[in-house]
Amino acid sequence: MDDVLSRAEGLARHSDSPDHYTRTWLTPAHQAASRQLQAWMREAGMAVRVDAVGSVIGRYAASSPRAASPAPMARGPMQHEQTILLGSHFDSVRNGGKYDGVLGILVPIACVAELHRRGERLPHAIEIAAFSDEEGARFQTSFLASRAMLKGADAMNPLLERRDADGVSVVEAMRAAGLDAGRVDEARIDTRSLAAYVEVHIEQGPVLLDAGRPLGVVTSIASGSRHLVRVRGEAGHAGTVPMGMRRDALAAAAEMVLAVESQAKAAGGVGTVGILTVADGTGNVIPGTVEFTVDLRGPDDDTRERLVAAVVRELEAIAARRKVSVEIGKRHDVKAAPCAPWLQDQLEASVRRAGCDPMRLPSGAGHDAMIMAEVTDVGMLFVRCGAGGVSHNPAETVSLEDARLAVEALLDFLRRFAPPHR
Ligand code: GLV
Ligand code: MN
Ligand code: MN
Repeated sequence: MDDVLSRAEGLARHSDSPDHYTRTWLTPAHQAASRQLQAWMREAGMAVRVDAVGSVIGRYAASSPRAASPAPMARGPMQHEQTILLGSHFDSVRNGGKYDGVLGILVPIACVAELHRRGERLPHAIEIAAFSDEEGARFQTSFLASRAMLKGADAMNPLLERRDADGVSVVEAMRAAGLDAGRVDEARIDTRSLAAYVEVHIEQGPVLLDAGRPLGVVTSIASGSRHLVRVRGEAGHAGTVPMGMRRDALAAAAEMVLAVESQAKAAGGVGTVGILTVADGTGNVIPGTVEFTVDLRGPDDDTRERLVAAVVRELEAIAARRKVSVEIGKRHDVKAAPCAPWLQDQLEASVRRAGCDPMRLPSGAGHDAMIMAEVTDVGMLFVRCGAGGVSHNPAETVSLEDARLAVEALLDFLRRFAPPHR
């Protein structure tokens, strides 16, 4: 039960960089982490498979064989909604925290290991999905693995030609990792046998910390979208073109970045430019082309849609005034996902039985649960984030005691899990 944090530490050593923790989809470090997770799942008494996009899925069978497996589709129709799917992701952002995603895999493994140690089986099967790509840092994807689990090739095909910073395409990266881009449909599961999807995650914010609560139950997950913006002006000589005659793409982009910030504040959402690249950037050249990402989110779909519309309007107005062109391409969007009230209630009761005062709170961060919400009821258990609540940052931290409480609460939840009759 106590190995969650040491395992997270150990897993973070599988990093694309020797200097910090970055683990992106299908790199050698990512594959090493996958092998480690497979070993831990097997040790916990689970049958393990790796799906067509590299997610690791462990299954702990129910006490009765009536609990059907949700995977894979080819096994034919499954009628019994008796498998509870737990999971989160094991890719990371660049220079990220060791618990984001990983906690939602290791806490469930610790629970299953405890059941296995006691020789205990539950009326429902438990599956743990360690999703291979959620952050999407390598190919600017998002929720790739959980989307592939539901949609197969339809989720993957539009992305196949994307290239990473080294020019490697998705197809090539998959081939190098022993995966076949032509077989992504095999990642699809039969969702009819799912009773629920539950994700444990570090809160990634300061709310639980401020309230002095180790665990929280998520009420809903914010709506979000990502965009790639390309601004084209005219490259020129930095010494010769008078200021009034320039079409500087970076100066325009700078104004656009500030517009993202002010529009997000005005709309009650959040807006972030996380990557900004000057094409052929050189100290003595007026920037001709600039690309940047825009991440826009809101607590609900309406807020986010209003924010997107306002940002598009502002960016186009700035471009027109500065005589540059702007193209705004949507990379993805995902609807706000409410957590099922019955799962909130059961999680809250388990948090209470673990000796903690529960707290309900929304999630501003995105999670695989948003994708799973398209096919089943979802619930989320948040674990308090230390160090002021910082995340997507190497300072991200969780205490041993809080991780222990998360295992205790999740185990209690699994043992008492009772889906409503439908
Ligand atoms: C996932 O980390 C997100 O971007 O919310
Ligand atoms: Mn994250
Ligand atoms: Mn995460």
